Amino acid sequence: MSQNAVEHPLWDALLEDLKEASTLARLTEIRDKYLSRQRGLLTLEMRRLGELPRERRPEAGRVLNQLKQNIESELDRRQKELSALRREAQLQSESLDVTLPGYRLPHGGIHPIHKIQKEMENVLVGMGFTIVTGPEIETDYYNFEALNIPEGHPARDDQDTFYLTGGMLLRTHTSPVQIHIMEAQQPPLRIAVPGRVFRRDSVDATHSPMFHQLEVLVVGEGISMAHLKGALEVFLKRMFSSETRLRFRPSFFPFVEPGAEVDMSCIFCEGDGCRVCKKSGWIELGGAGMVHPRVLEKVGYDTERFTGFAWGMGIDRLALTRYQVDDLRLFFENDIRFLRQF
Ligand code: FA5
Repeated sequence: MSQNAVEHPLWDALLEDLKEASTLARLTEIRDKYLSRQRGLLTLEMRRLGELPRERRPEAGRVLNQLKQNIESELDRRQKELSALRREAQLQSESLDVTLPGYRLPHGGIHPIHKIQKEMENVLVGMGFTIVTGPEIETDYYNFEALNIPEGHPARDDQDTFYLTGGMLLRTHTSPVQIHIMEAQQPPLRIAVPGRVFRRDSVDATHSPMFHQLEVLVVGEGISMAHLKGALEVFLKRMFSSETRLRFRPSFFPFVEPGAEVDMSCIFCEGDGCRVCKKSGWIELGGAGMVHPRVLEKVGYDTERFTGFAWGMGIDRLALTRYQVDDLRLFFENDIRFLRQF
């Protein structure tokens, strides 16, 4: 104890209390217990000084003043100690152990449909095509009329349409973008259009009401069916393998003449027949053909001078084949366990 130590029961009581004061909150309680202006034990003691005989008051006052100083400095000392301890604990808990192994943050991935779409775009850009997009909400004119599918034409039934109000509809294919581009630009044209399309098809393993197509359009002087076959072949060989072969089956689309369905040799069995190609050796890609002169006329092109070819293929079904998935729905259900595999 210091030289100013005083002997007093309050001092002993304080030391006793301080023994179990391990938090700053408890320390505040103790400070109040002794020094509070209303009910502090020392305060009360000092108030009682007046009850002492006059001659004892100076000495008793001196003792109590000294006691007060001692209590205050002891409480301050203890407060500093506890604050330091608290800061130390805080530093300990917040310290960074740079030797601990890191943990992986979960990160997203590119959706498999988008992935294959980007691959297609890259191959086409490498072949000199420009990638363009068009509106998903269309008018009847762009989706049908300008593509030589007038009202009442049976081809409209093949593409069961979601109609919106105000004569608008959700595009049923990417072909209307051909019209937008041709209206805005003069040949020569070499464009590729990926995008979402919509049809009132019932959902099953190979049909979805929203799916993706990739449209290709080339217009220029002297463009022929040979260019169409050549471009498709280069595209497929670069997308899949140099062994990939191509097959055209005559078909009808009002906006091309002649028109064809395009198949490619199965990338898994190379034409021998397997589960993926349902033993046929071929995988269906989409439609293709020479742009119908009536379509070129509609956009004001000189049909004596310019010809063109176009193809349109389903990206989702191609992704099924590419990733050996047997149900289109898996791509859209967004089960993270499925999507993580790509
Ligand atoms: C068309 O949509 C034409 N616009 C393609 C075309 C473009 C022909 C240019 C000629 C010239 P089709 O309706 O066949 O064609 O659809 C093309 C492809 O879309 C199909 O081969 C198929 O792969 C895919 N497809 C069609 N309906 C669905 C569906 N409900 N779900 C998933 N894919 C579909």
